[in-house]
Amino acid sequence: MKALILSGGAGTRLRPITHTSAKQLVPVANKPVLFYGLEAVAAAGIVEVGIIVGETANEIEEAVGDGSRFGLKVTYIPQEAPLGLAHAVLIARDFLGADDFVMYLGDNFIVGGITELVDEFRTDRPDARILLTKVLDPSSFGVAELDAQGRVTALEEKPEHPKSDLALVGVYLFTPAVHKAVRAIEPSHRGELEITDALQWLIDTAHDVRSTTISGYWKDTGKVSDLLEVNRTVLESTEPLVEGTVDDASVIIGRVRIETGAQVRGSRIVGPAIIGADTVVSDAYIGPFTSLSEGCRVEDSEIEYSIVLRGSSITGVRRVEASLIGRDVEVVPAPRNPAAHRLVLGDHSKVQISS
Ligand code: G1P
Repeated sequence: MKALILSGGAGTRLRPITHTSAKQLVPVANKPVLFYGLEAVAAAGIVEVGIIVGETANEIEEAVGDGSRFGLKVTYIPQEAPLGLAHAVLIARDFLGADDFVMYLGDNFIVGGITELVDEFRTDRPDARILLTKVLDPSSFGVAELDAQGRVTALEEKPEHPKSDLALVGVYLFTPAVHKAVRAIEPSHRGELEITDALQWLIDTAHDVRSTTISGYWKDTGKVSDLLEVNRTVLESTEPLVEGTVDDASVIIGRVRIETGAQVRGSRIVGPAIIGADTVVSDAYIGPFTSLSEGCRVEDSEIEYSIVLRGSSITGVRRVEASLIGRDVEVVPAPRNPAAHRLVLGDHSKVQISS
């Protein structure tokens, strides 16, 4: 069994962060989202992994390397443009050979991993197995219809009028039967070869397509709100650890991880939270569900339920909440006169001002 991990795509919903960085490398609890997927694949006993890369190939390759750190053997497969999930299968044909494989979308986060699913697939080997979960906004996803026996009867990609509330989760298990399917379909109205169409082709040609409905936690981290939620979930199970320094004037409550070289002075940190390596927190309040990456500075400020990427500083500002702050960003108060906001925002930034 092999794995095909998709790590291309433009990440438009995470702009401006994704102007300069791949969406799969945005950190959750200070670790790239993609790494959780790679660890899940390795835990399922899979070694050979193909990673589909696009415009951000260099950055992904630099982060993942040859995969040996995860116990994996990684082959990079370049996709010239985001032409769809079924297109990714098409161009991975040589890598996949005659093996069964799990296709895993690199921005998806599945609590509990995929070991059980992969083991089950190794034993029962239907032509394909998809994962489904109930969602409130099915029209943002691929949507499945099941018959009374739970067999998949129809699939539709991001339908305007969804026929069920069962969304396709970004993990798919395939036998080589899928290769014929991805060759048989045509690009959709958005110009992509859709994996939902390939699955529909399998169903229409009497192949065995089964589904597993998961009730556990799953998120597609393509949106800021989902990313913050995944960060919250991961932080909830973080083990407290102090590798940096905390002075006597500081109070640390709950699950807080303070990484090497970090300094906490005169501050209150209420976990779960992570303070990255070499980050300085002084005269500040860091509230629950906050991840500060390495080399940040939070001074005389309050922040909670947020992710701050490396090298950024927040000084004299209260309170920052539900925010995703990119790399090397500076957040400071405006001068008192005139009482005005002064903004230097990158393309596609989003700002909410409370006054
Ligand atoms: C893709 C799939 C969709 C699936 C979703 C899960 O959508 O096309 O069927 O429900 O992943 O994350 P995308 O995130 O590429 O818009």
